[in-house]
Amino acid sequence: LVFIRSISGEMSPLCEPDCHYYLYYQTQTQPITSKLDESWWAYKDVVQGSFVPVPSFWGLVHSAWNLCAIGKRQSPIDIETSHMIFDPHLTPLKLNTGGRKMGGTMYNTGKHVSLRPDKAHLVNISGGPLGYSYRLEEVRLHFGSEDSQGSEHLLNGQGFPGEVQLIHYNQDLYANYTEAAKSPHGIAVVSIFIKLSENSNSFLNRMLNRDTITRINYRHDAFLLMGLNIADLYPDTTRYITYEGSITVPPCYETSTWILINKPVYVTQMQMHSLRLLSQNEPYKIFLSMSDNTRPTQPLLQRCIRTNINFSKQGRDCPNNRALRPQYRGNTAGGTGCCSVLINKIRHKQNILIGQK
Ligand SMILES: *[C@@H]1O[C@H](CO)[C@@H](O)[C@H](O)[C@H]1NC(C)=O
Ligand SMILES: *[C@@H]1O[C@H](CO)[C@@H](O)[C@H](O)[C@H]1NC(C)=O
Ligand SMILES: *[C@@H]1O[C@H](CO)[C@@H](O)[C@H](O)[C@H]1NC(C)=O
Repeated sequence: LVFIRSISGEMSPLCEPDCHYYLYYQTQTQPITSKLDESWWAYKDVVQGSFVPVPSFWGLVHSAWNLCAIGKRQSPIDIETSHMIFDPHLTPLKLNTGGRKMGGTMYNTGKHVSLRPDKAHLVNISGGPLGYSYRLEEVRLHFGSEDSQGSEHLLNGQGFPGEVQLIHYNQDLYANYTEAAKSPHGIAVVSIFIKLSENSNSFLNRMLNRDTITRINYRHDAFLLMGLNIADLYPDTTRYITYEGSITVPPCYETSTWILINKPVYVTQMQMHSLRLLSQNEPYKIFLSMSDNTRPTQPLLQRCIRTNINFSKQGRDCPNNRALRPQYRGNTAGGTGCCSVLINKIRHKQNILIGQK
């Protein structure tokens, strides 16, 4: 354990890179005991029609989904930047596309806009907080009915108009996404907040321009896109925030490493409008906007939120990010916040490496 001096002058313990292992065995994933309809859930109440469980009921309607109700490492969370801990061991994330563009199919799943890369074009990530190589399975969009909401994660209680989630599975240990999602270290999700601007991110523009997005107006619509470069979706930064959590849809398995990129991507107001015009339903059913497809935030409990943002040079780390800049201060884990259990345990072992005073 190393101590550094934070901006506020207090001494702050840094998490060990693998401090999350300590809490891991408290939360084994549940075996699926019987076959169930995996899509029988919703984000919002429907005014007409039969009962479909909304987030507060997800964990109650089927035992295989009980982590949604009783899990202790659930996602999304509200990132309180004062709880973040600077971890100098966090290296930049590595994106590996093999230098090739990819094709993929964009779907209206009734719940999300989902882009699945075709199997011929492998994209994987490694490095950063990840101990394995993870293959891209899906790019998923969450967005709001208003500009003040739509992201699943919040930053100091504030939402963003949307959130892109790049969902990957551990290809070193598991054969496919389904197996990985319920297994230890199975999933890595890169999450990027969406903000509004005059100009659009070029990757998102391929998905969200009028010609393309209107092809998937209704549930089960699909549209093939070619020549995509996933690197275009990544903002220009190596800075991120990471924590251990869950997938944000039932069965809420607690197998995901989350990596939130410290810069947003932009879409235009027009593109956001097009997203809000997508229906959760088939064309012959009533129009029900897909927007606000977000799970409410879950308690952090004893988890660490680590970052490779070096607080002592904050001005250079987030030049264009008004939302993030003023908050990156605190960094005081003390004895109450994140990792306090771990810190006490390590102290017990007389295993402390005191850095600069
Ligand atoms: C963090 O930034 C400070 C000030 O620039 C620098 O002295 C320090 O070495 C940096 N720490 C790491 C781990 O990069
Ligand atoms: C990751 O992707 C690259 C490019 O597609 C590929 O060359 C490499 O073998 C992949 N790594 C693993 C572990 O599969
Ligand atoms: C995923 O892999 C497991 C284990 O190899 C296999 O039993 C299962 O059929 C696979 N599922 C899919 C959807 O390919």
